[in-house]
Amino acid sequence: MKLAVVGGGSTYTPELIDGFARMRDTLPIEELWLVDTDASRLELVGGMSARMFRAAGHTGRIVPTTDLVAGVSDADAVLIQLRVGGQDARRGDETFPHACGCVGQETTGPGGFAKAMRTVPVVLRIADAVRRHAKPDAWIIDFTNPVGIVTRALLQEGHRAVGLCNVAIGFQRRFAAMLGVSPEAVRLDHVGLNHLTWERGAHVDGQDALPGLLKTRLADLAHEVELPASLLSLLDMVPSYYLRYYYAHDEVLHEQEGAPTRADAVQEVERALLELYADPAQDTKPEALTKRGGAFYSEAAVDLMASLRSDRGDVQVVNLRNDGVLPFLPDDHVIEVPAVVGASGVEALEVAPLPDDITGLISHVAAYERLALDAAVHGGRDRVLRAMLAHPLVQQYDRAEKLTDLLIAGNREHLAWA
Ligand code: G6P
Ligand code: MN
Repeated sequence: MKLAVVGGGSTYTPELIDGFARMRDTLPIEELWLVDTDASRLELVGGMSARMFRAAGHTGRIVPTTDLVAGVSDADAVLIQLRVGGQDARRGDETFPHACGCVGQETTGPGGFAKAMRTVPVVLRIADAVRRHAKPDAWIIDFTNPVGIVTRALLQEGHRAVGLCNVAIGFQRRFAAMLGVSPEAVRLDHVGLNHLTWERGAHVDGQDALPGLLKTRLADLAHEVELPASLLSLLDMVPSYYLRYYYAHDEVLHEQEGAPTRADAVQEVERALLELYADPAQDTKPEALTKRGGAFYSEAAVDLMASLRSDRGDVQVVNLRNDGVLPFLPDDHVIEVPAVVGASGVEALEVAPLPDDITGLISHVAAYERLALDAAVHGGRDRVLRAMLAHPLVQQYDRAEKLTDLLIAGNREHLAWA
């Protein structure tokens, strides 16, 4: 099979390569094309990837290219994992909301909106090339943030796309370790929108082990998501750490003010990683990669591709069309829930009714996401303002106006209409 990774020059790529090498029987890759606009990164990451394949005895050919069409031509699947504007644009997302007393984050709040505005048009252009040049039944797997909005943009244009995030697989692994079972033995009851999710259950052998963990390991769980233990008890769920931007908004804002950004930290990690990738003796996944947030991303991506290809029919948490699963959202919204994955695609499992506080927050963010996608696709200050105002972390008109102008001014080079 031929696989293309768009954004293949990412420092994350060796994480993927490691997963592909381990799973070569389920995912027999003959050609792996790494597509990127940055030729110098491609050279380093491509070289490192080829050495990793060789060291692992994988016979697949790694082909780095800056030519998108060549990269996706006849591909069986295309993985999109890019960051428009790189860490510099991310630094903007993480700081401009501070001017209005809002948290700065690259996928949540005004920063996440800015990222959506930059990213959606780029991903749609790539998807168009996939439609023209890849195999007709090729899947697009989107790890590009904000995953919910980007996946909906793809589905709306009729692409065969599934969105992916590593938050769920991270919880699956943590719960498994706490329970002393293998990660595959844990079935998560995970619900929400991408980066706005709650774990409501962790089923092992048909029994829900989460109520037990919420008693015996409450402090550990709370510590991990950096939220008060009493909140987890109150909800009887484990919110993902992205919910901290809502439940502990002012605390996070306070921490952020005056502190270095995540973009700064990641840039440092990337510098060190690229140095390692340049070393011809380095042929295994470097330890430093664990300092990135995408831990187990390769596992999730490889599992998803393997099941789509070999019709395994197992259950994985993915981003897909709602189609009534969350009855309070439109059918065409994109949600993040467990789904059966097979050759014909992904089908969400049923979701038990949610309490009002959870449906309220999901609905509010979904409304923002819909307006944000409309703004990203059609442009225009009014559309941006409308979406900004709709975000539950913004809400006030004067703030929304100021944030809108900051977003547009800071991202002008990425916005064709501005
Ligand atoms: C988690 C999220 C990803 C995000 C990443 C950021 O993995 O699920 O969506 O891209 O964190 O990690 P970073 O190392 O760039 O901060
Ligand atoms: Mn994610």
